Amino acid sequence: MTAPLVDIRQLRCHFKSGANLLAAVDGINLQITAGEVLGLVGESGSGKSTLGRMIAGLQSRSAGKIYIDGKDMPHSYRRHDYREMATQVQMVFQDSYASLNPRMTILASLQEPLWSLGIHGQAARDKAAYWLDRVGLPQSAGERYPHELSGGQRQRIGIARAFITEPKLVICDEPVSALDVSVQAQIINLLQELQREHNTAMLFIAHDLAVVRFLATRTAVMYLGEIVEIGPTAAVFEAPRHPYTVRLLAAHLDGNPKGRILNKSLPAQTIANRAPLATDRGCRFAPRCHMAELACCDTPPWLQPSRVRTEAACHRLVDIEILRSRA
Ligand SMILES: Nc1ncnc2c1ncn2[C@@H]1O[C@H](COP(=O)(O)OP(=O)(O)OP(=O)(O)O)[C@@H](O)[C@H]1O
Ligand code: SF4
Ligand SMILES: [Mg+2]
Repeated sequence: MTAPLVDIRQLRCHFKSGANLLAAVDGINLQITAGEVLGLVGESGSGKSTLGRMIAGLQSRSAGKIYIDGKDMPHSYRRHDYREMATQVQMVFQDSYASLNPRMTILASLQEPLWSLGIHGQAARDKAAYWLDRVGLPQSAGERYPHELSGGQRQRIGIARAFITEPKLVICDEPVSALDVSVQAQIINLLQELQREHNTAMLFIAHDLAVVRFLATRTAVMYLGEIVEIGPTAAVFEAPRHPYTVRLLAAHLDGNPKGRILNKSLPAQTIANRAPLATDRGCRFAPRCHMAELACCDTPPWLQPSRVRTEAACHRLVDIEILRSRA
């Protein structure tokens, strides 16, 4: 079996919140294979961005290990670590405006990641010109500043900046949710084309389940800092096992799980009312779970593999299977 490109072990990110420790990411184990697209879904505050930012080295971790291409990544990065990181992991952000320097022309912004790799002058300009064209923008756009471009055009630049260093992994954090619906599909198609062209692994974080279902080969579901279900995208969407995944999908599906997925966020009543604390015990979904029993409040469930299905972290998977078979 080939080693995964990204191997995450017991990763934690705890933030201090008054007297408490808030567990934004709490003991995650995850592997991403070279060239695969892993979708990451879960409601607001579940820790998706924090996890993505830790993998990209933009957020320090409280504990755990991150191996990229077999290398044990440091807890905090020095200058030369960032240089190496540029060829390993890049990020596409939701807010393309904030990710570009407003005082730099687009051409300079495109070259910036190359400068840190020691690529300067004509070589950098040529690469930037190639990528302007590759993401569908005219060369004249290179002379403009970020505020002179539309949101969709700026996101194309964000994508070009992510791919220009030929990283092995691109993390996309809600890359289309701030864009007009009319340009969302174009940007998704562009990401898919580039991912396939360069065989780049992608961690795709999104609220829009339809997009994840379209793009991702595997999908992971996060709930309050933990992965509660993970598996092939078709299995997660068509035969979810964890009660939270079922609820999440139901909130997005139009009655029939195989039917059209509505592009809307979770209704307000399904949003968790408080962030998890590092001292919490048992299953974090228990206060909202219709299947909860006493053991759920005491013992944390762990991801249980299945040969044919997804891995799910729930004590009552056997009961769920029985109920499903009777339905
Ligand atoms: N710098 C920080 N300081 C304190 N708490 C933070 C910080 N960053 C994130 N958090 C908290 O960590 C939790 C996870 O946040 P995160 O942004 O990772 O969630 P998310 O799943 O990306 O949400 P969304 O879907 O809204 O983007 C939240 O409770 C958030 O308030
Ligand atoms: S472990 Fe218990 S509370 Fe948690 S999802 Fe499963 S049944 Fe529900
Ligand atoms: Mg986020």
